[in-house]
Amino acid sequence: MNLSIRNLTLPHNVLMAPMAGITNLPFRLLVRDFGCALAFTEMISANGLVRKTGKSYRFLNSSLKDKPLGVQIFGSDPAVLSEAARVVSDSGADLLDINMGCPVKKVVKTGAGAALMKNLGQVRLILRAVRKAVSIPLTVKVRSGWNRADMKALEIARIAEDSGIDAVIIHPRTADQGFSGNADWNVIEVIKKNLSIPVIGSGDVRGPEDAYNMLLLTGCDAVMIGRGALGNPWIFKNIISFLNGQKSFLPPFPSERERIIQYHMEMEINFWGERLGVRNFRKHLLWYTKGMRGGSLFREAVGKIDDKKAVLSELSRFFTQSLDMPNK
Ligand SMILES: Cc1cc2nc3c(=O)[nH]c(=O)nc-3n(C[C@H](O)[C@H](O)[C@H](O)COP(=O)(O)O)c2cc1C
Repeated sequence: MNLSIRNLTLPHNVLMAPMAGITNLPFRLLVRDFGCALAFTEMISANGLVRKTGKSYRFLNSSLKDKPLGVQIFGSDPAVLSEAARVVSDSGADLLDINMGCPVKKVVKTGAGAALMKNLGQVRLILRAVRKAVSIPLTVKVRSGWNRADMKALEIARIAEDSGIDAVIIHPRTADQGFSGNADWNVIEVIKKNLSIPVIGSGDVRGPEDAYNMLLLTGCDAVMIGRGALGNPWIFKNIISFLNGQKSFLPPFPSERERIIQYHMEMEINFWGERLGVRNFRKHLLWYTKGMRGGSLFREAVGKIDDKKAVLSELSRFFTQSLDMPNK
């Protein structure tokens, strides 16, 4: 099913979630290769963008193939968020998302991220100001609430719709839950029933059937994949095929897995340089080889390496050991 958010029309409704430390340019290009319809930067400090700090600006790095691109910002001050929104819009982003769900202490103590879910007056001021500042598609990403006793997602979604926001993204866990327990998809359903703008669900989609079920059970307009894409960019292709009627899938052959790992690492190295690129890629190596025979020995071996040649040779050794048959 295609999805329109203001003037942005996507060919289907399977999206990559914003993830700090993960969804940089190389990762976004990778998931796009597997059919992801919209990918996001990780959350970027609005203050950092306004003060033009190199670290924040680097998160805006993109390329012609990195489209359509959603940029996510966080902050608590309407004026600063509006100014940052203009920076993002001028950078050529296709969509801007405002983070109102991050539960990390460093963010929450500044009144940003999930802390906003306790301050609806501020939410309204922010959304109205940012809406005035830019004309690109604008979304807001929320959790269910601050805690079980304070579940404001629906109220915030209504404020968003009232303020001219184009879609709401909901990860239905409370902020104090972190990532524990299950995402409560009922919250997605309630929001969908009460809103006319698109509602995007995020949480616990680990495979094609989960995506199908989330769409069916909640009525949401699109699904977002987060942790399910780690070490598993194939998930996009599989979900899209499943939604189009294909019902069974083989895991990638080890040779295909090895090829994608090399390709992904090469992109990370082009982006960061060799030492940082390999270091940043170690966590991906872990995810790519999770559950594979001999995986723990491999992970131990690459855990301390930061040159490309050595990683490639460990990779080749590891994959030569595995028979060329699906084993994951
Ligand atoms: C490592 C990590 C980093 C994340 N970073 C962000 C972020 O920068 N912005 C955001 O809105 N959500 C962030 N999230 C939340 C995800 O976007 C998503 O809503 C959540 O993980 C639930 O989806 P999942 O079960 O598919 O992972 C992050 C989650 C993880 C695990």
